This record gives sequence, C-alpha cells and structure tokens, in this order.
Amino acid sequence: MSAQRQDAVRRITAPEITARKGGDPLVCLTAYTAPMAELLDPHCEVLLVGDSVGMVVHGLPNTVGVTLDMMILHGQAVMRGAKRAMVVIDMPFGSYEGPPQIAFENAARVLKETGAQAVKVEAGPTIAETIRYLVQRGVPVMGHVGLRPQAVNVDGAFRAKGKTEDERTRVLAEAEAAADAGAFAIVVEGVAESLAREITAAVDAPTIGIGASAGCDGQILVTDDMLGLFEWTPRFVRRYADLRGEIGGAVERWAADVRARRFPGEAETYFSKRPAEA
Ligand code: KIV
Repeated sequence: MSAQRQDAVRRITAPEITARKGGDPLVCLTAYTAPMAELLDPHCEVLLVGDSVGMVVHGLPNTVGVTLDMMILHGQAVMRGAKRAMVVIDMPFGSYEGPPQIAFENAARVLKETGAQAVKVEAGPTIAETIRYLVQRGVPVMGHVGLRPQAVNVDGAFRAKGKTEDERTRVLAEAEAAADAGAFAIVVEGVAESLAREITAAVDAPTIGIGASAGCDGQILVTDDMLGLFEWTPRFVRRYADLRGEIGGAVERWAADVRARRFPGEAETYFSKRPAEA
C-alpha cells in the first residue's frame, strides 16, 4: 500500500452509523465551511451539509432556493475540513423528487464531486422508491421525516408535525417506508416525544432528532443556532455560546480602535530595514 493510501483518512461509515441503533447517542451537527468542519470533526459522528445553508449562510427565506451547485461547493469545503466524521450532503429541493434515474444522476454527482459518503432526502410519501433505487446503486441515503423544510410552500410555514392522529400515522409510515427502502439513518424533525419514540421503536435505522425529544438514537442541531449566532432560535435549541454577542463586541472594539488610531499599532506593523527609515 502506498504511503499516500496509508495516510488516507478513515471516516465513519454508513454501516457504522446504522450499527449504533439503540447504543450510545449519535452526535451530529451541520457544517457548511472547512474551518467549522475542522472544529466540529473531533466531536461528531456525522457532519451534515444541510440545505439550511441557504438560510444560515446565504440569507434565503427558506431552503427551496438552494441549488445542487451550492450543496456541492459547501460539501467540498466541509470535506476539506473534516477528517473522521461521516459527511452527509442534503439533496436540495427539485433534485430528487422526479424520476429515480434523475435523482441517481444528481446524487452520483454530489458524491463524485465532493467525496462525501452519503446524501439526505426529505422522505415524503413517494420517496421510498427513490431511496431504494439509490441504495441499490451504491448511494447511502439518510431520510428526513416529520417537519420537512422543503415542503414549506405546501405547509405554509415551518410547523411541528404529528399533532393529529392522521398526521402521526403518516409520519410513522414515511419513516418505516424510508427504513424499509434502505435508509441508513433517519432525521426526525419537529415531532412530539411520543411520536419520536414510536418511530425509533419501529425502525431498524437509528433516528436522529432535531426538535424531536431525547427519544431518538441521536441528536442534530444547526451549529449556528447552538452557538448563538442568531437572535431568534426555535424552542428546541439550547444555546451553548453567544457568538453573536462576542462578534458584535469584538467588531465594536476594533472599529473604536481604528477611529481612535489605536489600530494598527507597532506590533501589527511591518518596518523596513532600509537605513533611511531605521
Ligand atoms: O438542512 C439542515 O440543516 C437539516 C437539519 C436541520 C437536520 O436538514
């Protein structure tokens, strides 16, 4: 084996994630850039390049406007920063809901151009066939049930799911269909604890909760939310830092130093060794 092969990174794989069902909780976070991926990598089993990138980084009102090219660009960046976590990339709205063959072409492009190991799809009622088609052709797929952000225009808003019996039955059926079709893990978003526990008990794939209680096999949050980069966050987010305040304070101090000519000082200045200036 060449030295280069020996040095190759050993990343957590899809079967290893599946094998964690019912074991120690899976720790997952979103990442969109190389430096953030490098910081998160030692602590997480999965880094998700979520299509939330559209809202978090690009200022879009929802995820519908995110494109395949955006996901690939951010996926490449995250792969440069992450060394051991499994990197999963969201398939954006419009890239997988049509014929499975098109979904495969788009998913294959994502894996080839980023080197990431898997894709995630929002698993509505008709998606099981596509998940099976992708998995059978070598694309590991993570499902996503419950609150499906890409369905915002049908739902009218980002709303928790499973409040009625009909909705509970539908979300459970979607999770079971995604797992039966071969999804190696399933994100469960915005559902009550009882439904999260029911889904977790019903499927062999580990469930990864976001706003879905401690009844899941793992947890994921949007990193920027838990770091306190936004003024408003959903109720299910716990803030572990106040980076918005930190950044605002740091920039305020720097701006004051520039205005008062305290920055740059000698320590931040290059001096020439030419005799005339010595
Ligand atoms: O896009 C995203 O960040 C996600 C997570 C919230 C699970 O899908």
